[in-house]
Amino acid sequence: MKKILVTGISGFLGWHIAEHLQNDFKLLGIYNKTKPELKNIELEQLNLTDNRSVTSFLNQHQPDAILHLAANSNPNDCEQNPSSQVINVDVTVNLAKYSAAQNIPFIFTSTDLVFDGENAPYSPTDTPNPIMVYGKQKLEAEQKVLKVNPKAIVARMPLMYGLPKNGLGFMNAWLSNLQAGRNIYCFTDEYRTATFGGDAAQGIFALLKNKASGIFHLGGGERMSRFEFATQMATHFGLDKNLIIPSLQKDVNMPAKRPADVSLDSNKTFTFGFSPRKMADNLEILSFSF
Ligand SMILES: NC(=O)c1ccc[n+]([C@@H]2O[C@H](COP(=O)([O-])OP(=O)(O)OC[C@H]3O[C@@H](n4cnc5c(N)ncnc54)[C@H](OP(=O)(O)O)[C@@H]3O)[C@@H](O)[C@H]2O)c1
Repeated sequence: MKKILVTGISGFLGWHIAEHLQNDFKLLGIYNKTKPELKNIELEQLNLTDNRSVTSFLNQHQPDAILHLAANSNPNDCEQNPSSQVINVDVTVNLAKYSAAQNIPFIFTSTDLVFDGENAPYSPTDTPNPIMVYGKQKLEAEQKVLKVNPKAIVARMPLMYGLPKNGLGFMNAWLSNLQAGRNIYCFTDEYRTATFGGDAAQGIFALLKNKASGIFHLGGGERMSRFEFATQMATHFGLDKNLIIPSLQKDVNMPAKRPADVSLDSNKTFTFGFSPRKMADNLEILSFSF
């Protein structure tokens, strides 16, 4: 059985990857600060910014593929903390170089936030123009990854939803607020093509299986605002929609600017076997975890 090294196993997407891929591959998951509660997966603590430890780890474990999810994925934090460049760019490029030297598959998860939001929907051939530090770091990493390893897969992820048992993700936070009778403030002027974490894992598996290379978009099929998303979610779970307060991006003072519409055209990835379900179907599935 092939051994896949998964960085960021303790994150939101890491949990979904563990759920989805653990039967098909031997997963070796790396966490840094938070040891995840995942069974049937080999877990190792490793700070990826420590180059020497990373080199000896790779020499010891010799993975057959690398799925690099680890990042500082918080745009506001990246805006205020320039050292985020190390995990988001430098670590990514080093792992891409290693995978090129070993001739093993390398998948890097980038973001829809490489676009400025002015001309959605975006296909992989459209020109990125990030408007915040996080998006700029991810774009720099994409370009350097493909330079040092042209066979790499750059998977641009949209906003992802789901109810992972590690409690991460905006949906867990929104649902617990609504359940407690607290307001949530949701943008009516920010559009995304959100994807369920389980579907994202399926799409990544499809790209890996089909030996893809280059840039791919993993957006779900439905474009909606955060407010529309929250309303559909609350309706499904029988929660009070009046607690959802429509708001505008300009109403909230955020360190990182947000693009208005970074909806993704993911047709190319559909031809590689990515098949995201409709949000209504995913909410039905998520009812079992709620
Ligand atoms: N979630 C989304 O909606 C979304 C949207 C677009 C793109 N993405 C991209 O998709 C990927 C996965 O996102 P996510 O939401 O799962 O991220 P996340 O929940 O924020 O998790 C980040 C992961 O990175 C690990 N990490 C950070 N610094 C590290 C270091 N120095 N050494 C080792 N591990 C480190 C964290 O480990 P510890 O917690 O153990 O420290 C954690 O497992 C990221 O590349 C992100 O940029 C996510």
